[in-house]
This record gives sequence, C-alpha cells and structure tokens, in this order.
Amino acid sequence: MAKIIAIANQKGGVGKTTTAINLAASLAVLEKRVLIIDADPQANTTSGLNFSPSSDQKRSLYEVMIGKIRLEDALVQTEIPMLHLLPSHINLVGAEIEMLGAADRESILKRALEPVADRYDYIIMDCAPSLGLITVNALTAANSVIIPIQPEFYALEGLAKLLQTLRLVQGMGNSAGGPNPELQIEGFVVTMFDGRTKVHAQVVNELREHFGNMVFNTIIQRNIRLSEAPSHGKPVILYDSVCNGTSNYLNLAREVLERNSDKN
Ligand SMILES: Nc1ncnc2c1ncn2[C@@H]1O[C@H](COP(=O)(O)OP(=O)(O)O)[C@@H](O)[C@H]1O
Ligand SMILES: [Mg+2]
Repeated sequence: MAKIIAIANQKGGVGKTTTAINLAASLAVLEKRVLIIDADPQANTTSGLNFSPSSDQKRSLYEVMIGKIRLEDALVQTEIPMLHLLPSHINLVGAEIEMLGAADRESILKRALEPVADRYDYIIMDCAPSLGLITVNALTAANSVIIPIQPEFYALEGLAKLLQTLRLVQGMGNSAGGPNPELQIEGFVVTMFDGRTKVHAQVVNELREHFGNMVFNTIIQRNIRLSEAPSHGKPVILYDSVCNGTSNYLNLAREVLERNSDKN
C-alpha cells in the first residue's frame, strides 16, 4: 500500500506546489513508484509538469470527485518514468458545491484511491490554499501531512488554524469522531530560506522549539531555479540537476524515506 502524504497549508505562496512537485519527482528519481495528485483548482502542479489545465480535457480530479470517471482513467505519465500525475482543472472549484449532497462527502477521494493504492509507494497530494471540502478530502485520504512553512514573521500565526483543522479531521475532542482518526503530521518543512535574513533563522529556531524533531532537518533554500522550472514544465531536477533546489529536495525525499524506513 502506498504511503499517502498531503502537502497542506491554507496560506498561499508558502511553497506547497513547489514542494509537492519536487518531492514527488525526487522520490521517483530515487526509484519509488509515485503518484502526484493536483488537488488545487489553480492547477499549478498540472502546468508545472507540462500538462495544460486550460484545454477542455475531461479527465481530471474534477470528474473523479463528481463520480463521472474512475481515478485510474485520469492518470497521465510525466517525463519521469516512475512519476504519474492526476491532473487538476479549474472546474474543481465547482466540485465543492456539487459534492455537498454526496454521502460521506469527506471520503470521496479516499475511496477513489483504493483501487490504485498498491501500485504506488508514495502518493503526494498538492492542496489548495483553503481548508474547504477538497482539502478535507485530501486530509481524509492521507496517512500524513507535510506542512511547508515560509519563514516570515507571521508564519506561525496561521498555523493554529491549520492544526485545528487537522484535529477536526482526526476527530479529537469530538465524540462522533472525525473522518480520519489516523492522520499524522509527517513534518514541517521550511521553504524559501535565506540565510542572510535574520528573521528566517529566528523563525526556524522558534519552529524547532515548538515542534522539535517534527521539523525536517532539511531546509529548502530560496533558489531561483526552483521558481524557473515550472515555466519549462519540469521538476527542478530535470531543469538543473546540480542547483541547490535539486539537492535540497533530494535531501527532503531521503529524509521522508528514512522516516518511513519500514516501508522501503
Ligand atoms: N525555494 C524556493 N526558492 C525560490 N522560489 C520559490 C521557492 N519555493 C517556491 N518558490 C516560488 O514561490 C512562489 C510560491 O510557491 P508555490 O509553491 O506556488 O506556493 P503555494 O503552492 O503554497 O501557493 C512560486 O512562484 C514559486 O516558484
Ligand atoms: Mg500551490
């Protein structure tokens, strides 16, 4: 069975998509079978892997969520042999409303994934900057969450809301339980780090004080190559195999593999 990891933070621009694409690509290069799911209607992961979310394609997460097609019929092969993608589409915005009447509407993605879960070692889900129903579906399908943190002054303030949502999904403090009591935090990963910026080092220290070894040792530095690669439709490792961004995300992938060493 695949280990299913959601990349989530309701703040936009913190590095979720960059982390999802490059962690998934790194795991695939390290010879794991990987599926990446674009669970954001903005479809940045889809375009970042060179698929066009604007074409009138009828095989995306949207059609899967409204029960029109099977998940396996929406999968596409990326440029990396061991990496498959489930694309997104702007229509996914409407799925939140269309799903409202569905039974077990938090578990639609979880059920859709069951038939393919044993074909992969890792399933990585890029979430939207929201805590809406699609994100709740991702958190319900997931075994764990990776939370990217951009080391800005207010970074830790928004975390309370995210942690509260995780507790809701886990069903903590709710006698009726939640949709995913087993959900774990895989780790916090610091993104866009600049060693010359004093506040960045302060935020990293604070994170480590609060969350100890739940913070990944690997820190993702600010690296222009990481921001250029998506416009070429490539994960950074195929765009510039020797830049810091490539080695940072390979290290993050190795750390994820170590934390899940019973699975490898
Ligand atoms: N380590 C990094 N170095 C430089 N730019 C980055 C880095 N991580 C992300 N970016 C850029 O920052 C912006 C926001 O990142 P993105 O991954 O799209 O965040 P999110 O998915 O959380 O909204 C994008 O333009 C992306 O290319
Ligand atoms: Mg994104």
